[in-house]
Amino acid sequence: MGDELPERVDVMVVGSGIAGLVFALRASAFAEVAVVTKKDRPESNTNYAQGGIAAVVAEDDEAELHRADTLAAGAGLCHPDAVEVLVREGPGRIRDLVAWGAEFSATSTGGFSLGHEGGHSRRRIVRAADRTGWEVERALLDAVAAAPGIRVYENHAVVDLWTVGEGVDRRCVGAWVRIGEAGEARPIRARSVMLAAGGCGRVYRYTTNPAIATGDGVAVAHRAGARIANMEFVQFHPTMLHDPSGTSFLISEAVRGEGAVLVRPDGEPIMEGVHARGSLATRDVVARAIDREMKRTGAEHVLLDCTGIDEDRLDERFPTIVRETRRRGFDMTREPIPVVPAAHYECGGVLTDRDGCSTLPGLMAAGEVACTGVHGANRLASNSLLEAVVYAHRAAERLRETEPTDGIGRIDAAPPRAAEWTSPDPQEVTRLEDRIRDLMWQDVGIVRSDAGLARAADALEGMSADIARAGSDEARNIWETARLIVQCARSRRESRGLHFNRDHPYRDNERFLRSTVVCNGEGG
Ligand code: SIN
Repeated sequence: MGDELPERVDVMVVGSGIAGLVFALRASAFAEVAVVTKKDRPESNTNYAQGGIAAVVAEDDEAELHRADTLAAGAGLCHPDAVEVLVREGPGRIRDLVAWGAEFSATSTGGFSLGHEGGHSRRRIVRAADRTGWEVERALLDAVAAAPGIRVYENHAVVDLWTVGEGVDRRCVGAWVRIGEAGEARPIRARSVMLAAGGCGRVYRYTTNPAIATGDGVAVAHRAGARIANMEFVQFHPTMLHDPSGTSFLISEAVRGEGAVLVRPDGEPIMEGVHARGSLATRDVVARAIDREMKRTGAEHVLLDCTGIDEDRLDERFPTIVRETRRRGFDMTREPIPVVPAAHYECGGVLTDRDGCSTLPGLMAAGEVACTGVHGANRLASNSLLEAVVYAHRAAERLRETEPTDGIGRIDAAPPRAAEWTSPDPQEVTRLEDRIRDLMWQDVGIVRSDAGLARAADALEGMSADIARAGSDEARNIWETARLIVQCARSRRESRGLHFNRDHPYRDNERFLRSTVVCNGEGG
């Protein structure tokens, strides 16, 4: 709000999506909160979420069913207690969003008008037409603007976390924050840092994510010594519009929930005989089937046939998608539209406990950047916004109980200097980022192999000097996140959920029924 970020803040929140804003709103009841966000405040993955928020709010639904669906999608790697927390506390958190002013689509009798998505045994997607993320973000930003204890600093990027101490005494006491793209990075102290910096889809050539999703949160936490888990589980959304001339545009899974079917050019359903749930199988299964189909035929895309859905229903449920596809020259009410899978969501991230605490004292994490144990090897559709709001709420409650003087005020030593960049050469930065995105798409995508993963690891290793020379925070974070994905993928020598390695096509239940955990430095 035009103010200068002070040298000391009580609680620093990194990121202004649903997790960061919910945490800020809750924490502002007992602390002064500074939200730092690297672009404009609404620019987050939340803002682009179309489908909705999964929660047990219907009369024919039960927490037990939501739990079972989440565990089934997660392919043996969900932490059951984390899932239990999610499904039990979810409905209460939906009520919080409504209390903050989020307006969800309603039935004529005033209940939630629910959507349906892959892997769910019931209709349980709370939605705001097809702009749920946008509506939630709007409501939360309005609530934040009215909250006296919260300040938002736009165009402030966290370059690195500030840590003191070694080994078990190591803790996070703040962060180095860069103001503007080429500004100076300044050390800012904080009693507690909440990392809610979102995902890393931009590590891949094709993604549904906006430009900000460059893995910054995972990269800074890893450099600071926090444990990172399950980065091999990158979710590819089955249906991004294939529009090579335009920016990426998602076709919500909720469209398939209403009856759209993935088909070949001759109209044959692609998922027939692949899975009993057909086009509404979980995303890992559907994305792999499309990938197989495209490789088999050499086609650049498959088709999504929505013509079986009543036109009025399409318009009522998906006004944005119908309008935007039309603007791009596709009429989904009249003919099948071209779609491809694209990187969408990182199920792994900064390892946390059930209260959002990372393994580095002083650092919390929530939202896509975190690995709470909810998603396991594959996230169930629309569980991400729910996880963000449930776990951000719990993290704020946990912080409320901790000693207010923790950390802050006890630091005498001058902080180490974060990497100081000379002015980055934009062409070189683009060249390096494109190279990483291409190699990740090629060798660390939907179907992987030992040779491809080894090739990617070597190529990334070979780029380290160029990355250091390029002087770009973002390129460094993309590179670091890519390395973490490859490192985790190489250590999982089986196929499970979103990680499919054709050299190890079967699940090895005994040895790999656990998370992949990576740590920089001691204990790594
Ligand atoms: C979608 O609408 O298909 C995306 C929602 C999600 O990723 O859960």
